[in-house]
Amino acid sequence: MAEKEPIGVIGVGWVGLCTAACFAELGHPVIARDILPEKVESLSRGEVPIHEPGLPELVRKNADRLRFTTDMGELLEGAELLFCCVDTPPLYSGDADLSRVEAVVAELGDSNSHAIVMKSTVPVGTGRAIHRRREDLGYVSNPEFLKEGSAVDDFMNPDRVVVGSGDGSDGFADRVAALYEPLGGPIVRTDVASAEMIKLASNAFLATKISFINEIANVSEELGADVREVARGMGLDERIGDKFLQAGLGFGGSCFPKDVSALKQLAGNSGYHFQLLNSVIEVNDLQKRRAIGKLQKHLGPLVNKEIALLGVAFKPNTDDIREATSLVLAARLQSEGAHVRVYDPVALDNAEDLLGGAQVCSSALEALDGADGAVLVTEWPEFGELDWAGEVRERMRAPVIVDGRNFLDRTALREAGFTYEGIGR
Ligand code: UGA
Repeated sequence: MAEKEPIGVIGVGWVGLCTAACFAELGHPVIARDILPEKVESLSRGEVPIHEPGLPELVRKNADRLRFTTDMGELLEGAELLFCCVDTPPLYSGDADLSRVEAVVAELGDSNSHAIVMKSTVPVGTGRAIHRRREDLGYVSNPEFLKEGSAVDDFMNPDRVVVGSGDGSDGFADRVAALYEPLGGPIVRTDVASAEMIKLASNAFLATKISFINEIANVSEELGADVREVARGMGLDERIGDKFLQAGLGFGGSCFPKDVSALKQLAGNSGYHFQLLNSVIEVNDLQKRRAIGKLQKHLGPLVNKEIALLGVAFKPNTDDIREATSLVLAARLQSEGAHVRVYDPVALDNAEDLLGGAQVCSSALEALDGADGAVLVTEWPEFGELDWAGEVRERMRAPVIVDGRNFLDRTALREAGFTYEGIGR
């Protein structure tokens, strides 16, 4: 059997590790390079530092095809397609910080046989700018559309794969496209700038959908409609679709907030005022605080009230707390004078420093014990399995529940004597 194309991965964070492990699973030899020696050592021992279902198993199963290194030379010797997976966090200005991408480009010596395959989310125009400076290297844009918590499945079953190229890199792009052919999803071949825009526009559109349904939820509360019913009825229209219409306490994570603001900024830098995205961001900021008013409605001033926050991660099945609603709520509640207790099944180690004076609990029941009110912030399945009518009801001082994700059985809770507040219903 012909040897499969070797893959180089630069930056072994969440995107890099998922990419490396999934290509290894498809039979490719993979060399993944990171600048942190401790990370490289622990990954070489098969230890996966992030919570991503299925990923540790893939890393261990494909250990003989996966090599981790700190040495760029080893990477360049072993592979020609170099997937750039370093992070591009937001700067104070809202622009994406490209310093890590630039550092990678600077490290690559003159070469006609290597191509950068850009997976990091970068502003539109980045590929063109890099190509102008480094005409020797190939450049392919291959944005990632993985969701945290289901990344392995998303990689293996893509809705689409986007491959952008031009300026003499079409041969490299053919090779990149061929890597994904066994997965069977549509492959969108396009120019680099359009590929870069597809990524930002997709995230911005999904974020817009969420802020839209959150505003419908807020209006539904005023007018007596139930946003879940509204979303169900809307979602059956194929032009709308039923995904990303779950109202709640807003979107968080390392992608949507950053990418929406990067696209807004990018537009602004080119002289275009992207009004809609301003509103998407503002609605989301306000939505994150909505639980506070709901608690006050039933508990009055929150001074000295014991409030439990269930869930810290920005969504279930991840330990990521970046831009998580829990952090905003913990800070707001504490400035209202409340005592805050938090619990999350996996994300507490990351969060402790960011939660101010909040008490970190080792179980949901501990957080709820003696609480005046609770906010369900992250819809972890285990919160649905609590004995709400029995043990929780007995332990809480005042049974006020704000279900920030419309996740719990409100009829059962109300029957059990809880004061239940959802979002938009
Ligand atoms: C998102 C995109 O979905 C991926 O396609 C993309 O690759 C990724 O960003 C990225 O750019 O790297 P992710 O941030 O992992 O993925 O999470 P999502 O599942 O999209 O959820 C984002 C946020 O929206 C979460 O806080 C979630 O609770 C919230 N959300 C999602 C809602 O409030 N309502 C919904 O209906 C859906």
